[in-house]
Amino acid sequence: MPTTSEEREIIRQILELTEQNTTHMLDDVMRNPVTKYTDPEQLRQEIDILFRNFPIVIAHASELANLGDFVTHDETGVPILATRSDDGVRAYLNVCRHRGARIEDEPCGHARRFTCPYHAWTYGLDGSLRGMPQPVGFDTVDRSERGLVELPAFERFGLIWVVPSPQDSELNPVDIDAWLAPMAEHLDGLDLANHVVFEKWSLHKDMSWRLALEGFHESYHFCSAHRDTACSNYLDNQSLWTNYEPHVRHSVPLPRTLELRDLPEDEWDYRTNFMTQNYLFPANFVQTMTDHVYVHTIIPTGQGTCVFQCMMLVPDDQTTEKANRYWQKNYDVVRVVFDEDFAIGEGIQKGFAAGANDDVVFGKYEIGLHYGQKAIDAALAGDIEVPRHG
Ligand code: FES
Ligand SMILES: [Fe+2]
Repeated sequence: MPTTSEEREIIRQILELTEQNTTHMLDDVMRNPVTKYTDPEQLRQEIDILFRNFPIVIAHASELANLGDFVTHDETGVPILATRSDDGVRAYLNVCRHRGARIEDEPCGHARRFTCPYHAWTYGLDGSLRGMPQPVGFDTVDRSERGLVELPAFERFGLIWVVPSPQDSELNPVDIDAWLAPMAEHLDGLDLANHVVFEKWSLHKDMSWRLALEGFHESYHFCSAHRDTACSNYLDNQSLWTNYEPHVRHSVPLPRTLELRDLPEDEWDYRTNFMTQNYLFPANFVQTMTDHVYVHTIIPTGQGTCVFQCMMLVPDDQTTEKANRYWQKNYDVVRVVFDEDFAIGEGIQKGFAAGANDDVVFGKYEIGLHYGQKAIDAALAGDIEVPRHG
């Protein structure tokens, strides 16, 4: 993918900072109260606002490749049924409009219509109520009012995004393109629609979702927490952040980035010299490696617990046996690296309960932590909302 002017500027800044023997820093540290990770009321607000009003990635587009393909998703606490209908990807509450039974229980599959297991009411891929046994008992009910309840769903950049709450019909529709616009150039360049899912996995962890998120917001920890794994792959504590409030681009240079110094700028290549943690507010990361991509979504499942959902995406034209062996090696390493982060996060959560700290402190160069926390605070205060059409 061609290097953009934004990326050229990132490279320029990295070279300048390393030359001056320093790193990207803010003016001061930031203290974050421990209650942000432990207070049930804080968590309730986060779920009610962040995990109801903002788009969450639930799948890769290839999982809904054909008409009638479906996936279910429950981790946000909202039962979601997403499918490909005649007019694109749509998502519904996975709840029957007769007496509320769960309609589809499989994690994924293919259907021409959805049939409720309780009394066999059936729904089309477009969510409409198509039929029921012995309809005479419901002949005074207007079927058009008993279709599945729809959720805003979008297919963008090869990913399926869902806002997990039914929308008030008074509200204008969500404008996903305006929402993702600041990150669109990079996401578009990744061409994720032409990738396949090499692996997909979910991990339930005993840590605040916020701690899991924070692991991707800074690289200060790489050469201690990942001493034998990720450390040597990157320049130590040399990250650069671009703040798109609330999204954040976190660029982590590989050691060979320094060699770009000897090349004319128009020969600089960003992708092969960086790992990029693209934070897509509130809970999604698109982690761009030099030749493949991890997409993760981190969702709270309770006080001090979360689920980490991850997909490893590889280009669909690179799936020979030899390529797959190479991807498998990458997968094996990343599982170790993520586990190193989670082991520490679970330890932090236990330590919170012990009451050692009233706050945690974010260093001047742990910049993603500052930006991420401020974005969450702003959204909880109602200062950040998803743009709407019209
Ligand atoms: S609850 Fe679904 S058909 Fe009765
Ligand atoms: Fe880490």
